[in-house]
Amino acid sequence: MHGSIHLALKQYVVEVYGASTWEQILAQSNATIKMYLATSSYPDGEITALITAASALANRPANDMIEDFGRYLMPKLIQNYRSLVRPEWRTLDFLENAEQSIHSVVRVQNPGARPPILRCVRHGASELQIIYSSARRLCALVRGMALGAAQHFAEVVMVDERQCMLHGAESCDFRMRVVA
Ligand code: HEM
Repeated sequence: MHGSIHLALKQYVVEVYGASTWEQILAQSNATIKMYLATSSYPDGEITALITAASALANRPANDMIEDFGRYLMPKLIQNYRSLVRPEWRTLDFLENAEQSIHSVVRVQNPGARPPILRCVRHGASELQIIYSSARRLCALVRGMALGAAQHFAEVVMVDERQCMLHGAESCDFRMRVVA
């Protein structure tokens, strides 16, 4: 996973749980690198080890924590990549275009980064289907990022995951619906 995501995870832990918790995570996890650069990529086992230790220390299920991290991360990514976010976009437009307009650029600018391919189908003005598939199986991150995007655009979005890789499906099938 790209170093920028590790650094954002550190920032999240420090803000929500305090700097000493981050130190404890580094000390207690099976992570081997522990110093992350925004310009590098690291084996996926590294972020998995950090999240596993964070979840144990916070006494919180890992997927809850990943979702919460996604909510925290999304507005920050939008801010950092604001030149790629069109001013007229609302939540669903942003999510629908994240693959073509943003992840594709991330892949070119950061050759080590492998963001997932997000397949999107728009079902009218207020509903979007996202099919997510990745060996990392971070669907909790997708959910959290969608909710974080809604927060950024000051909308309320319901996220319904109709099938999930964590329950044996080939891909996760999300419906995102704007309700307010
Ligand atoms: C400003 C918008 C966005 C930026 C700049 C961005 C950037 C990134 C980057 C740098 C990574 C790390 C990839 C790697 O290290 O291999 C990543 C991963 C990921 N992104 Fe995005 N992303 C954006 C929007 C989204 C949206 C809207 C979603 C879905 C709702 C999403 C879902 C994910 C997921 C689930 C991963 C984890 C990797 C995986 O599942 O394989 N991203 N993204």
